[in-house]
Amino acid sequence: MSRLRVAILFGGRSAEHEVSLLSARNVFLALDRDRFEPILIGIDRSGRWLSQPESLLLTAVGDPRNAHLVDNGRDVSLSPREGGGLTSATESQPVDVVFPVLHGPMGEDGTVQGLLELAGLPYVGAGVLGSAVGMDKDVMKRLLHDAGLPITPFRALRQFDFDRDPAAVCARAAEVGFPLFTKPANLGSSVGVRRVDNAAELRAAIAHAFEFDTKALAEAAVVGREIEIAVLGNDDPIASVAGEIEVRHKDGFYSYDAKYIDESGAILKIPVELPVKTLATMQKLALDAFSCLECAGMARVDFFLRTDGTAVLNEINTIPGFTAISMYPKLWEASGIKPRALVTRLLELALERHARRTKLASKK
Ligand SMILES: Nc1ncnc2c1ncn2[C@@H]1O[C@H](COP(=O)(O)OP(=O)(O)O)[C@@H](O)[C@H]1O
Ligand SMILES: [Mg+2]
Repeated sequence: MSRLRVAILFGGRSAEHEVSLLSARNVFLALDRDRFEPILIGIDRSGRWLSQPESLLLTAVGDPRNAHLVDNGRDVSLSPREGGGLTSATESQPVDVVFPVLHGPMGEDGTVQGLLELAGLPYVGAGVLGSAVGMDKDVMKRLLHDAGLPITPFRALRQFDFDRDPAAVCARAAEVGFPLFTKPANLGSSVGVRRVDNAAELRAAIAHAFEFDTKALAEAAVVGREIEIAVLGNDDPIASVAGEIEVRHKDGFYSYDAKYIDESGAILKIPVELPVKTLATMQKLALDAFSCLECAGMARVDFFLRTDGTAVLNEINTIPGFTAISMYPKLWEASGIKPRALVTRLLELALERHARRTKLASKK
């Protein structure tokens, strides 16, 4: 049987460009070369798609700051036709399935997924809607709330209103009570997130969130441990064991610096021992959130676990980190699924979902 051609997409225009390269490296290394043939495509910071050599991912080890695309790679474009393909100035090559390893806006938010839909290509992870919903914390939380799933009280804030009447927007944010968290609605990596302890700090924190998005959230702070669970599957997904992020950073929460800059900013415990009932409840919540938010293939569901044992959903990540130290692959390894089997399963799920959808009468 000929090998399936897997296009691994990485880099991208978001703040998580370098992290994406490290994630892509691990997907690439885990690829079963007997069944799959990799085609590497890097997206540079200006949005250009460039064909990349395997050596790039083989050498991008360790520090994200050392990871750089080769920028003399051939320009690549997707041809929007049934069966999909990748075209460069010199050649055209068919692709069987795409693995987008892109974190944040312009990659994890449905934009790239829309392009892949137009190109008629199967791809790993959530579709256009699930990706967009997973990226917009306001819409995500409204859907979770609507499904009766536990979230912390929040208010969505609009930049337009803030520019006109900042005091009114601050008053609306303060309704959730202090301390609270402010954050851009569509972002990740804790960029633009602040903890606000009192009314005096509120206005600057909201203005900060609006540097990154025209919509922001004010959320009641939850006192609790940060627990994450991985989900794998399409219509009948499974949940992994749980992991914990123990924040040790002076910011007091899992900030950008605690995530990426300060090596001792946080400790990941994988797996973490939880009471059997608590774990079962959280796994069920993770699966419910996954289907409620229209996810497919994979997601990492992030929680807060209060001292009284109750869990609150924080967010879902539809393209979770895949680096050597990332929670998602580590949680599956701790659950008995090694990286090679995980990547193979994700590619199979992409193909299964695509096959099922192309069979629908309305698609033709
Ligand atoms: N409501 C909240 N209560 C307590 N901590 C929070 C809250 N919201 C955010 N945080 C802290 O900020 C971090 C980043 O916020 P999060 O909403 O997960 O955004 P991102 O998508 O950038 O990861 C969380 O991991 C947590 O440490
Ligand atoms: Mg988060």
